[in-house]
Amino acid sequence: MSETSSLVRSRLDPEPVPRRDFLGLASMGAAGAAMLFALVGMLRLPKAAVVASPSKKFTVQLPDSLAPGKAHIPAGRSVALFRDEKGVYAISLVCTHLGCIVKEAAEGFECPCHGSKFTADGTVTKGPAPTALPWLKVTPRDGEFVVDEDTTVPQGAKVTG
Ligand code: FES
Repeated sequence: MSETSSLVRSRLDPEPVPRRDFLGLASMGAAGAAMLFALVGMLRLPKAAVVASPSKKFTVQLPDSLAPGKAHIPAGRSVALFRDEKGVYAISLVCTHLGCIVKEAAEGFECPCHGSKFTADGTVTKGPAPTALPWLKVTPRDGEFVVDEDTTVPQGAKVTG
């Protein structure tokens, strides 16, 4: 008797969901969840880490004690400034081989990457660097010097001021 009564459905019982409908609902739910996770992931994407690079023009006050032939390298810059009896000039310290920053050596500069050597005026004395270190534009202004790292000048172009 009890077995028979359990098979009889009441009108109040909810309509059973057919298997095909259940799978369709489950796949739609899974697709919705995937889209929700994708949306959350997109919102959490890191913002572009664009860091402003320092200006390629900067002003330098040369120390009065700067001896002729001695380099003055401003902090945070890859430029060496020199002063002699003919004027002031600036040389880029970016190696013309593959772009390493050359270091001061006993005579001029030496590249730590592949061993190129340069004189104090940038001339290559040992490769593999193909060309001299470029001279940069220097403009005197109110007792200081404005160096433009984006503008090269012919080797030997010195300014007074
Ligand atoms: S980068 Fe300077 S010698 Fe290669």
